[in-house]
Amino acid sequence: MILTTSQNVDCKRHNLLSVEAGVVITSGDRPSPPPKSSPSKDRPNPPPKPSPSNDQPNPPPKPSPSNDPPITPTSSSPPSPLSTPPIMELPSPPSPLPNPPIIEPSSPPLPIDDIFTPASVPPLLSSPPPMDDAHSEEPSNPALSPPSPTIPPPPHSPSRPSSSPPSTTLSPPPLSKPSPSTPLRPPSPNSYPSNSDDTPKLQVGYYQGKCSNKSMDVEALILTIVEEHFLNDTSILPALLRLQFHDCFVHGCDASILIEGNTTEKTAIPNLTVRGYELIDTIKVTIEEECPGIVSCADIIAVATNIVIKLGGGPEYLAQTGRRDGTVSKAEDVDLPSPALTVQETIDVFQAKNFTAEEMVVLLGAHTVGIAHCTSFEDRLYSGTSQFDPTMDPTLREQLSETCPQGQFSNNFALLNQNPQHSGNVDNTFYDQILKQRGILSIDQALANDPLTKATVVQLSLNATLFNVALANAMVKLQAVDVLTGNQGEIRNVCSKFN
Ligand code: HEM
Repeated sequence: MILTTSQNVDCKRHNLLSVEAGVVITSGDRPSPPPKSSPSKDRPNPPPKPSPSNDQPNPPPKPSPSNDPPITPTSSSPPSPLSTPPIMELPSPPSPLPNPPIIEPSSPPLPIDDIFTPASVPPLLSSPPPMDDAHSEEPSNPALSPPSPTIPPPPHSPSRPSSSPPSTTLSPPPLSKPSPSTPLRPPSPNSYPSNSDDTPKLQVGYYQGKCSNKSMDVEALILTIVEEHFLNDTSILPALLRLQFHDCFVHGCDASILIEGNTTEKTAIPNLTVRGYELIDTIKVTIEEECPGIVSCADIIAVATNIVIKLGGGPEYLAQTGRRDGTVSKAEDVDLPSPALTVQETIDVFQAKNFTAEEMVVLLGAHTVGIAHCTSFEDRLYSGTSQFDPTMDPTLREQLSETCPQGQFSNNFALLNQNPQHSGNVDNTFYDQILKQRGILSIDQALANDPLTKATVVQLSLNATLFNVALANAMVKLQAVDVLTGNQGEIRNVCSKFN
């Protein structure tokens, strides 16, 4: 499917697909899952002794080497501005390592009306539609993972007060399942980087011709390194996804999370279990050898994150680049949402960054991959605990209770997506699980139960293509939050240190 967004077109504020994502390619409803994540050397820490309840590790990785040529978004034509993105063509049928897209930066955008028809994208729902048999797939086993002994678990940060009334103004149904070729709506203007008008915006192909070796393809180099890493360690997928989120929600996507030091963002409690730093450092070192002083660490994070999403079977879309690196990184500035917040409180947090409630639900779909440590969810397990959730699927509760025995400090962890066949895949199966009361984090489960978000959860669970498109758009928007461009910030020499 070719999905492009070309001009700024007004979209309803609550339209799930209203983001100016440049070009989005989605593989549609995928028949076969991509590789699974497995515990790996990049996981926080190996367990000293597996407990009986934790002897089911993540599914083994099934990486398949790709002989395909790397993505070459900056091929021979000049970069396209964000508002007139190039056209990408859908790679051949989805596979764990799908063929790269053909990117034609110089192609004119297709007329919007040819690509997007309003009727083809389902509106968001204000109330849940009837469920159909799309939720019938039961996981054979909850995938509980082995203990991880030494990484400090992430305590919840304090809840924020709710500052706005519930938003109940979403447009009404109808729920019709769009076909796999559902096109993407054009962008909405409010998701551009929030810097002033005279500051350059992110653009596809920013690095084209910028290195002293004019033919150097920065994105292709990143792809090569990330692909190689992924073949050995599929858990780099959730690692980078989370790292991207934690970077962008604190001082914008400026790589401030990468800075080493006693009081930097990296040392803040929510970031203690963030992983993937080493890979970003490695990529930077390699790039500096070929193209010194040009490529920002913030762009490396964004490009690498896009690549792992694609490698995990998720949507592929053109990376916008041109970010610069921040010069501030303070632990005290890290104010990320706690999993214990209510849905309304979480909506408020995302709204403050210009995301709709629907985009928030889509972004939290990133919890379709990766893990959570006991301390992130054990308060939900036992009656009398602060977050006790009596509605949790009893089988899941039993299994989680074995993984996280009450009152015992444990570094064990569970898969965020309790569908073990899909817990390493970027797909919409997470939503099925939370609709079955099999969410791991409190906020994940709340999305499926709260009237503010339930309809969106149902809609996304029913349509893999919709999720792919919406995730691509939401990621492009996330990666543009408060970015530094032009002369702002710096291009770091080393990602973990200010210049
Ligand atoms: C309200 C918003 C969010 C909350 C409260 C939240 C909270 C959490 C928590 C508590 C964990 C488990 C950490 C641990 O125990 O080790 C986690 C893991 C994760 N989060 Fe989120 N998250 C949010 C949004 C997001 C977003 C927007 C993304 C990406 C777009 C994301 C991606 C991930 C991933 C991939 C993991 C697994 C990491 C791994 O396996 O190492 N999260 N999140």
